[in-house]
Amino acid sequence: MNILIVGDIYSKLGRASFEANLNKIKQERNINFVIVNGENTSHGKGLNENHYKWYMEHGVNVITLGNHSYHNRSIFRFIDSVNNLVRPYNLPSTCAGKGYCVINYNNIKICVFQLMGQVFMNNDTLSSPFACLDEILENVKADIYLCDFHGEATSEKVAFGYYADSKINAVFGTHTHVPTCDERILKGGTAYITDIGMTGPLDGVIGTKASIIVDRFVNKSQNVFEPEDTGDSQFNAIILEIDEKTFKTVSIERINIVDKRKK
Ligand SMILES: [Fe+2]
Ligand SMILES: [Fe+2]
Repeated sequence: MNILIVGDIYSKLGRASFEANLNKIKQERNINFVIVNGENTSHGKGLNENHYKWYMEHGVNVITLGNHSYHNRSIFRFIDSVNNLVRPYNLPSTCAGKGYCVINYNNIKICVFQLMGQVFMNNDTLSSPFACLDEILENVKADIYLCDFHGEATSEKVAFGYYADSKINAVFGTHTHVPTCDERILKGGTAYITDIGMTGPLDGVIGTKASIIVDRFVNKSQNVFEPEDTGDSQFNAIILEIDEKTFKTVSIERINIVDKRKK
């Protein structure tokens, strides 16, 4: 089976690029299952209910979140009533939502879970993602396990990849919004990529208008963040192929498409 996993879908241009590319890729590549990182879907921070429904209308099977899980407060209205919305598992258990889901696809149980890195993420409440992986594998029974590792530090992500190797089908990084070109199958059979990248504006600074972020660095200004919503956009994703009989991961492929906007 072929699984499409789309990197952080960022605001208006991210949604436009997602819509522009999804059906073509689904048809051309025989995609069976779609996972998206949706933490930046609604104006760059969080996910509102309309956008959740929009993903469902587009046939998305699972949405993962991240450090922006709760930044659109309306998520509290629906996060606990749906079964395919995944926030970081290693947040305190009192937090709204769940850190994993198990979806039945043609009698194959697919577990998608998210872990957040502890390095440079400004969150002291996180448990060890390494220990949490063991906990999930002990308690959650599935045929296929896919991990969204949401983190900033590349070293932590690579180390986690090795720790997870042979235990699960894939570790795919999200959060930095910058794709890495290190996709491969590790020795134990786990597919790995440090970061899938972002589906969103090509010209901003990881999604935000460039002038605002440049001004912050140059002048230490406190300008309010605003998504870049003009210009070209990018579609960053991976496709995993998994054998439906052995549940072994066969391949991982990176996709990077630039969508030109008419001037
Ligand atoms: Fe993030
Ligand atoms: Fe993000």
